[in-house]
Amino acid sequence: MKKIFVTDFRMIDEEIEDFFMVKSFAIKVGANKKQYLDVVLGDKTGDVTGKKWDITEPEIQSFEGIKDGDIIKIRAAITEWNGMKQLKVIKLRKPLATEVLDLVDFVKAAPEPAAEMMAYIRDCVEKMKDKDFQMVCTRLLDDNAVKLMYYPAASKNHHAEMAGLLYHVKRMLEVAQKVCQVYGNLNRDLLMTGVIMHDIEKLNEMDANEQGIVSSYTFEGQLLGHLIQGVKVIDRLALELGISDEKAIMLEHMMISHHYEAEYGSPKKPLFPEAEILHYLDMIDAKIYDMEEALLPTEPGEFSERIWTMDNRRLYKPSGF
Ligand SMILES: [Fe+2]
Ligand SMILES: [Fe+2]
Repeated sequence: MKKIFVTDFRMIDEEIEDFFMVKSFAIKVGANKKQYLDVVLGDKTGDVTGKKWDITEPEIQSFEGIKDGDIIKIRAAITEWNGMKQLKVIKLRKPLATEVLDLVDFVKAAPEPAAEMMAYIRDCVEKMKDKDFQMVCTRLLDDNAVKLMYYPAASKNHHAEMAGLLYHVKRMLEVAQKVCQVYGNLNRDLLMTGVIMHDIEKLNEMDANEQGIVSSYTFEGQLLGHLIQGVKVIDRLALELGISDEKAIMLEHMMISHHYEAEYGSPKKPLFPEAEILHYLDMIDAKIYDMEEALLPTEPGEFSERIWTMDNRRLYKPSGF
C-alpha cells in the first residue's frame, strides 16, 4: 500500500492510518487534570503534531519503550488548530515483526548528496588565497568530517534534516560568492571562512543520530551555545596554527555577532562588512528554507499553514502565471 506522507494531508477531519517516525513523545497533564499524549510525528516530507486526549494508565504502560526515532503506526483524524494541521490520534502501536518498512520514507534529508556538498565546500577552501583562513577551514572540515555528513542544522525548523548543516553552509557559500562579485571590496576569504565556521559547533551543541534527528542539547550546548563554543574552537585553532591576533579576533567577532541580536545570543552587533553580510546570508538561507518547506504542501493559488518561525505568517503560493 502506498504510504501517506505528511505533505499529503489535506482534508480536515479525514482519517488516516499509516506509519510515521516519532520525533518527540511526551505524556502531559491538561488543564482538565487528565493526562494526554503530546507527540510530533514525521516522515521524509515533514512533521506534524498529534494529541491523544484522556489517556488511561494501561495505555500509558503500552507506550513504554517508544522513543524518538522509532516508527509507529497510528490511526488519526486530521484536524486544524491555530491554522496548523494537527492529528487527533485514535490508536497507535509499534510495528509488527512482519511489517517491513523502508527507512528512506521516514528520514528527511537534504536534497543534495552529502558527499557532493562536501566536495563543493572543499573546493571553495582550496581556491582561497589567504593561507591562514584556508588552514582554519581545512582543520574545521577535517576535525568534523564524520559528523558533518549527517548532522542537521537545527532540532526543528530550518534545516532540521539529515546533512542539513552541510546544505545550509553550501547554499550560503554559493550566495556569498555572488555577493562578493557585486560588493568588490569584501574580503572573500574572510567571508567564506565565516560561513564555513559559523555554525560548526552545532555539531557539539546538539546530540543527533545518523538520521539527523536531534535527541537533546549537550551540557556544553545548553550552558554555552554554538557561538561561544565556536569562539573557543577558533581561539584554540588560531594558537595552534599561528594565526595573527587580528585575523583570529575578527573570526571570533564574526562568530559571536552572527545572530545579531542579544536576545538570540549575540553579545555584539557586527562591526565590519563581512560580519554584517554573514548575518544576512544566514538569515536569507534560514528564511528561504522555511518558506520553501511551508509552500511545498500548499496548493497553487492558496495560502500555507501559519509558520511560527515567521511571525505566524501564512505564505501565498502563486496559481502559476
Ligand atoms: Fe548560528
Ligand atoms: Fe546558520
